[in-house]
Amino acid sequence: MIDLEKRLEVAKRVAIIAGKSALKTRDEGKFSVYTKHKNDFVTDVDKTTEELIFSLIKKEFPNDGFFGEEDENNEKGIGRWIVDPIDGTTNFFRGLPNWVVSIAFEIDQFSPLIGVVYAPVFGDLYYAIKGKGSYLNEEKINCSSIDELSNSLIVCVPPHRHKESYSRYCNTMENLGNCCSDMRSYGSCAQELCFIASGHIEAYYELFLGYYDFAAGQVILEEAGGKLTNGSKNHPFSDNSCNIIASNALLHKNIEEIVFGE
Ligand code: IPD
Ligand code: CA
Ligand code: CA
Repeated sequence: MIDLEKRLEVAKRVAIIAGKSALKTRDEGKFSVYTKHKNDFVTDVDKTTEELIFSLIKKEFPNDGFFGEEDENNEKGIGRWIVDPIDGTTNFFRGLPNWVVSIAFEIDQFSPLIGVVYAPVFGDLYYAIKGKGSYLNEEKINCSSIDELSNSLIVCVPPHRHKESYSRYCNTMENLGNCCSDMRSYGSCAQELCFIASGHIEAYYELFLGYYDFAAGQVILEEAGGKLTNGSKNHPFSDNSCNIIASNALLHKNIEEIVFGE
């Protein structure tokens, strides 16, 4: 029997420990930045934070599977933990506040059941278990009730690592921008999903994400009344490449119509 409540408690504790440790290291300036690919960065803190998260969770649940952004292995187990140790790495090393630790757990692939997102700079802990609502620092959160696109705030993130898709994406972004009230971009997918879940913004559209970027945020968003679906019609989700549309649910169809050009 898989104990989800126990896993949630462990994930919350581990996310706080890992996030505080990364924040301390950053504030002391004790980190190095490396380039993974063009416009795609990683620091040594991303790696040590992921190792810390895995070792703390493995102590409690040695038979679970583990998949992390910085780990080449994708271990299968009874269920699987999906970890982005620092989502918002560029913000992390550029001294900006929006970066988070993101931890999810699933049994069936691409149906995450637990989501924990911890934003160390703000001391914000978002969490959810499927079917039990979403919380920010123990307070229940909900998506906004905005149901007019013209009143909405939308996050769009042009594909900085795939410039060949830039103009196609920016064309859609222009169409979305013409219909909404205003646009935002915070530099952390998990944080942006939590911002929809807590009613600050209404929607988010991004291409070429990893599953680790949004798995935890997806549960938190869905349990707050929102929706996350595939942002392309012919590109099924894979662990390392997903296009997503996320929203407060009320505007989902409107966003899809613009993205798919219907
Ligand atoms: C990135 C952030 C960013 C998104 C990128 C992601 P990372 O994750 O979520 O908001 O635009 O696509 O790769 O690299 O900071 O973990
Ligand atoms: Ca990420
Ligand atoms: Ca990351």
